[in-house]
Amino acid sequence: MASTKNRRSFLQKSAAASAVATIPYFVTSQTALAKPIAKNDRLNIGVIGAGGMANGNMNAAKDWVDIVAIADADAGRGEAMNKNRSGGKAIVYADYRKVLERDDIDVIHVATPDHWHTKPVVEAILAGKDIYCEKPLTLTIDEGKLIRKVQKETGRIVQVGTQQRSTFNLFTKAMALVNEGRLGRIKKVSAAIGGAPTSPEIPVAEVPTGLDWDRWLGPAPSCDYRHLPPAKGKRGRGNTNCHYEFRWWYEYSGGKLTDWGAHHVDICTWALALNSQSAGPVSIGGSADHPVDFKDGVAQQRDRYNTATRFFFSAQFPGGTEMIIRNDTDNGCMIEGDKGRIFVNRGKLVGAPVEALKDDPLPEDAIQKVYKGLPLEHNERKAHWANFFHCVKTREEPISDVHSHMKMLNTCHLAGIAARLGRPLKWDDQKEQIIGDDQANAMLTRPYRDGYEIEGV
Ligand SMILES: NC(=O)c1ccc[n+]([C@@H]2O[C@H](COP(=O)([O-])OP(=O)(O)OC[C@H]3O[C@@H](n4cnc5c(N)ncnc54)[C@H](O)[C@@H]3O)[C@@H](O)[C@H]2O)c1
Repeated sequence: MASTKNRRSFLQKSAAASAVATIPYFVTSQTALAKPIAKNDRLNIGVIGAGGMANGNMNAAKDWVDIVAIADADAGRGEAMNKNRSGGKAIVYADYRKVLERDDIDVIHVATPDHWHTKPVVEAILAGKDIYCEKPLTLTIDEGKLIRKVQKETGRIVQVGTQQRSTFNLFTKAMALVNEGRLGRIKKVSAAIGGAPTSPEIPVAEVPTGLDWDRWLGPAPSCDYRHLPPAKGKRGRGNTNCHYEFRWWYEYSGGKLTDWGAHHVDICTWALALNSQSAGPVSIGGSADHPVDFKDGVAQQRDRYNTATRFFFSAQFPGGTEMIIRNDTDNGCMIEGDKGRIFVNRGKLVGAPVEALKDDPLPEDAIQKVYKGLPLEHNERKAHWANFFHCVKTREEPISDVHSHMKMLNTCHLAGIAARLGRPLKWDDQKEQIIGDDQANAMLTRPYRDGYEIEGV
């Protein structure tokens, strides 16, 4: 566990550091990695939601934090993280609000399912904490408006877990190409993000020991726990409306449109912003296939996965720029300008402007210009956490700040509303309202179940 002295010294240095200019951390070689904060500047972290992603994240962040508190609606998961990631030194809670009450906790990691992001994030901000929250930040557009408001009013640091923004090469290099004008004016961007799986009928099942199902549902509508174990001889978790598989239910997620949209639509939107096209869409339309029927935007069967399995959306942006969101081609982002086009995903960056770098390399500081001069490491998850800790210290805006995140997540959420209603939408980006469609506008928000309202707003 970090000593109080070390934490205090970190926080004192934070105040001092905010007064000086950022050190230029340009990384030129595999060996020249900049460490944003010293290892003895350790912070106490409280983890809310101790599932798959939180475990990966705590491994990535281990050089900088001591886990002192863990909250999970499933007691076994909280205990497992305590044993595996903090040597049994943390206190495990069922109710995350106990974590927020502790004065000895500097930063919070929120890695609950998507329907459980906004409430703890807003309450953590109001409790004076800095937060690293997993993507997608919200389940609705109106939740984003609230988080942006409280973040702006309080100045807390909020990093969203879209770690593609912190890749040393690939995505940041693609953004540098855009920023240096190597593609010219961007006319079209495409995010290929795959479709959601289907499931057979998933029967109502006994809630497993240790899982508080009501707490897991939280603000979402009350319903039965469902589980279909894997077929005999097959491994895996089977089908459920709970751990990990929540992604395939609109009640808890946006399906692939936000699960992977939060990654690739983000990169496409970042490219547009770097190309001086920072406004949101004016309209979105297309088609989507779902495994169940929908009426008035609501799934008519509650016993199987319901998010879109196949889709093709086209969003129009000011100036005639188009964004495509699709499931059916090679996972990644195509960015097309009037001087050339590139394709980038987690494994490759290709296209004529990339080949042209042999004769005309990017300026030395090109990647750092898009990465705002912040430290950048090679492992993208570690780099994203390093970026967060650096910003906690300096109070700079992190690379995945809530404002740019919600800009792009609005497009993903609009695609989800158009998918469920089966019709195109017009969007007023200034007012953040759908134009002339009351039913669609009602889907910018969602009712919170009694007892699970956001506290303090
Ligand atoms: N950045 C990435 O590349 C990436 C990758 C995977 C997942 N994620 C995101 O991470 C989040 C979690 O995904 P996961 O795959 O780890 O899911 P998961 O189901 O494995 O973990 C979620 C955990 O949250 C717990 N939880 C639910 N309600 C809670 C509450 N009220 N208080 C405390 N804990 C609660 C669950 O019991 C579970 O242990 C999602 O938002 C997902 O989109 C991001």
